[in-house]
Amino acid sequence: MRKKVIAGNWKMNKVLSEANGFVDEVVGSVPDSDQVEAIVCAPFPYLSSLVEKTNGTKVHVAAQNMHFEENGAFTGEVSPVMLQDLGVTHVVLGHSERRELFAETDETVNKKTHAAFKHELTPIVCVGETLEQREANQTMDHVASQVKKALEGLSNEQVANTIIAYEPIWAIGTGKTASSEDANEVCAHIRQVIKEVTTEDTSEKVVIQYGGSVKPSNIEELLAQSDIDGALVGGASLEADSFLQLVEAGT
Ligand code: G3H
Repeated sequence: MRKKVIAGNWKMNKVLSEANGFVDEVVGSVPDSDQVEAIVCAPFPYLSSLVEKTNGTKVHVAAQNMHFEENGAFTGEVSPVMLQDLGVTHVVLGHSERRELFAETDETVNKKTHAAFKHELTPIVCVGETLEQREANQTMDHVASQVKKALEGLSNEQVANTIIAYEPIWAIGTGKTASSEDANEVCAHIRQVIKEVTTEDTSEKVVIQYGGSVKPSNIEELLAQSDIDGALVGGASLEADSFLQLVEAGT
């Protein structure tokens, strides 16, 4: 039985006082359940403070990106060594906004996935199709290709510990959610692809999230699907009470 993983991706939002206030509000209220994991994906400058505030609680802290190198002349970048040193536990990799706006490629996502495991960070690897690809019936092939490339070279154990977030790009921040059946079909396909490149046992362990306009009113239907094990939530994760409702839905 896979646990549900609810991750709130704040993207480039909040100032420090808001970030701290959010975490102060949620740490005491996140359900004490082994069935659900709550993650806050915060901007780099807040990670240190949030790790300190969530220490010993049920809330995990994730970065939204990182470089794959450990150190060096990469002005403006943040390394996996730094994240591990801070006590960050998860890192979002290959979000469609990184791919579209910051030239992230399947190759760099793969390097970052390896770097994450090297430094004991759990990668949340994002994949998903554009509207044009969906309309051209290319969703399954595109997503399969992204998943295979991101996981290339990992051991089965590492794959089993990877979180995949399926986020159709046309559903992100648009209010348009994929129907729960359509989302599940793609998530099931991702699990099948993972089974083909690893083993059935491995594929059954992988947590696959859905992302794209998830909110308290639609999360239960999504989580009721056979292959959707959680959600990567943007807009609806920004307010503490909404985030708590999303996490509660996973119990
Ligand atoms: O990382 C989160 C996703 O991009 C979804 O964002 O919930 O605002 O559509 P959204």
